[in-house]
Amino acid sequence: MQSVRVAFVVSELTPYAKTGGLADVGEALSRALAELGHDVRVFVPLYDTIDRDGLSIEKRFETEAFDLWEGTLPRSKVPVYFVDCPRFFSRGSLYTNDPDEPLRFALFCHAVVQSCQRLVFAPQIFHLNDWQTSLVPVLLETTYAWDRLFEGAKTVLTIHNLGYQGVFGAEAIERMDIPDSSHFDEHDRGAGVVNLLKTGISHADHLTTVSPTYAREIQTEEQGFGLDGLLRHRSGRLTGILNGVDYGEWDPENDEHIPYRYSAETIRLKKQNKVKLLQELGLASSSPDADPPLIGMVSRLSAQKGIELLPRALPDFLARHDSSLAVLGTGERAYEEFFSMLEKRFPGRVRFYRGFNNRLAHWIEAGADMFLMPSRYEPCGLNQMYSLRYGTVPVVRKTGGLADSVQQFDPATGEGHGIVFEHYTASGVQWGLERAIELYGDTASWDRMVQNAMACDFSWAGPAARYSDIYRELLIH
Ligand code: ADP
Ligand code: GLC
Repeated sequence: MQSVRVAFVVSELTPYAKTGGLADVGEALSRALAELGHDVRVFVPLYDTIDRDGLSIEKRFETEAFDLWEGTLPRSKVPVYFVDCPRFFSRGSLYTNDPDEPLRFALFCHAVVQSCQRLVFAPQIFHLNDWQTSLVPVLLETTYAWDRLFEGAKTVLTIHNLGYQGVFGAEAIERMDIPDSSHFDEHDRGAGVVNLLKTGISHADHLTTVSPTYAREIQTEEQGFGLDGLLRHRSGRLTGILNGVDYGEWDPENDEHIPYRYSAETIRLKKQNKVKLLQELGLASSSPDADPPLIGMVSRLSAQKGIELLPRALPDFLARHDSSLAVLGTGERAYEEFFSMLEKRFPGRVRFYRGFNNRLAHWIEAGADMFLMPSRYEPCGLNQMYSLRYGTVPVVRKTGGLADSVQQFDPATGEGHGIVFEHYTASGVQWGLERAIELYGDTASWDRMVQNAMACDFSWAGPAARYSDIYRELLIH
């Protein structure tokens, strides 16, 4: 098999810097590509939130604008290059609303290309992810077009979330150090803005997104966030590939973050994780014999995630059913306030942990009976796939990757492994939860569904092979 040299460029990367699924995909996909024999090197900013003491990295070189450090991705030989520029990346968080936000990631994109030059690394593929890296195709066509090192190099842009496009004032163009503004959308420039994701979508050789359903959805006006026309125009170059799961990290059989490890055969131990989690979170059972279901949620609390539906769904549901709820998340204040209110209203039954906590994320996956994802839209979603492996029944809205990874359980045939509701409404959520409760009460069906869930295989080998095919096809033409 032909090995391809890949520069994998991403703004977050597990285990160093993470706000959501992008980081997990960055790590697992680059590792899986390397396992297929490709020469993959990952580029990521060296944020000040990364614990440098715990990092084993070496400085490769210094330039006036940035330093480059090299480390190795855990459980692999994949080199990780950290772009060190404290002026831009010491802000206490990965993303900011600071006026120089476009310049921070423009610097990152320049640094990636310049690092390849300094390392004499000639990527055949620049694999880019989201708006933060979307400037690279234009840079290769302009600033660095002279460099033979990049002759024949192709660009692949993966869209993880069309809801974040990197739209800034057009004055950023000059400050991003690009010689020719004609590479940016004329209409936008006229309106005084620059849209970095759009620029990437127009210029990349190939586009992918993280599920087949989302690839279709973003070509519609409802889900296209204003870019559906452009995406339809480029649809021949757009592929939807469902993300995988890193089972080295997310498998209850060898999960170091949970108190009791278990597998499909030792599923009774899942219950012990639940009991301990309930204790840890101060959630009590209504009676010692009853075992009411625990619903889990781990989520960025943003509009995308459908939290707005919950005020009209959850209080009523909790009032009617003996059940409890554990929520881990942080984000928009109104959503945080809602969960705090819910916790007060249902003491001992609802626990809201505000913040980011990887250990608790794993533990909720292991301890909850069901996992709620009522997303308005979901490009892929990883938690529903993690839930399946943990035997935690996902209750999801039928959209994007949720629709592609969760199959409705049918008690008549015993097939399926989750609960899927169609409508983006409070009654849709209620229907999903009611259905879950009903099945929870039917032990034979529930056990069957849990076993089906745990048998699902979303390992990265399949998706990585699809990316690999795209690389090769691009390099032939
Ligand atoms: P998105 O990328 O849109 O946030 P995904 O489902 O793809 O959604 O990925 C979310 C990832 O972030 C999962 O690994 C999830 O466990 C993690 N995560 C989200 N919120 C938190 C949190 N508050 N604490 C710990 N992990 C979190
Ligand atoms: C984005 C999406 C999420 C997806 C993740 C990784 O953050 O919101 O659905 O799973 O990227 O591709």
